[in-house]
Amino acid sequence: MRQRVVLITGAGGEIGHSLINRLGNDPDRPVITLDLNPLAPSLAGRVRFHYTGSILDAQLLDRILAEYQVERIFHLAALLSTRSEFAPVTAHRVNVEGTMTMLDFAQKQAESHGHPVVFMYPSSIAAFGMPNLSIKQQAGAVLEDDFNHPTTMYGCNKLYCEHLGRYYARHYKQLASENLAGKVDFRCIRFPGLISAFTVPSGGTSDYGPEMIHAAAKGTPYACFVRLDTRIPFMTMPDAVEALLKFADAPREKLTRTVYNLKAFSPTAEEFAQMTKRFFPDAVISTQLDAKRQGIVDSWPADVNDEAARRDWGFDPQHSFEQAFTDYLVPQLRKSGQSAGH
Ligand code: SER
Repeated sequence: MRQRVVLITGAGGEIGHSLINRLGNDPDRPVITLDLNPLAPSLAGRVRFHYTGSILDAQLLDRILAEYQVERIFHLAALLSTRSEFAPVTAHRVNVEGTMTMLDFAQKQAESHGHPVVFMYPSSIAAFGMPNLSIKQQAGAVLEDDFNHPTTMYGCNKLYCEHLGRYYARHYKQLASENLAGKVDFRCIRFPGLISAFTVPSGGTSDYGPEMIHAAAKGTPYACFVRLDTRIPFMTMPDAVEALLKFADAPREKLTRTVYNLKAFSPTAEEFAQMTKRFFPDAVISTQLDAKRQGIVDSWPADVNDEAARRDWGFDPQHSFEQAFTDYLVPQLRKSGQSAGH
């Protein structure tokens, strides 16, 4: 009999890193991972098996299908927004074809064991496209179904894959049924910018937030690539990982949507810099605008309405903007020795 496991793709990325550490070595829920690169030694010991390879490798996925009974997938592999603008064809291949391949894999898994496969998909605020800055400023906290006209390759990829997932969950081969046995149970979170104390993102556009605080902790100057009045929502990585796990465990019948907005706080880049300087008074933060990246964040909402997630599956982030610093970022950065010694 095949062993029942949870599969994480893109496991070596930022969310994967925290998710693996959070899931630990739970014998009741062993984890297998897939990433283009070998896992860092600190993570490798925490998973049952790691496959080094691509989500686009059909033979590799067939091998996983034969070896394991996958009942839950965290499909985290993706190119982030800035990188996707520079390599749109690769972005489409990884973000769209990769997700399609994984959805098809999930469908085959579900058919093979007759249980639903919970497919956790991290979408993004990039799925929104605010028409201009004045509408962005007036729109307030936007609902999931508003402003769905992304202006980036990454945003288009994410929005389309939200639809693909909904198709697999609700309409696959037009076999509409509320009974998800043997089907894909697709669940999607639109994440805001994420901030981890342990890793820094690469190739994203919300990166200025985490980059600023990590630079301050290391005592290196930081040139912020967006205007100081730029505002988008953020949350801490522990809150993001708890949300993924809580949402994955939520009873299906409580879910009124496929796609849920989440956020914990929405500071401007200036508020970010001020809070960083409060804890790292010697931080040197300047601005050096990058017009392309500015355009990307200007197209993302200043705030999102996450009432549906709070109501349906109890989303309840622990870190406000200030608590993100006092209870998580600053203590962890100091503990891990990244701090410049304040
Ligand atoms: N953090 C991501 C990015 O900046 C958005 O989901 O690309």
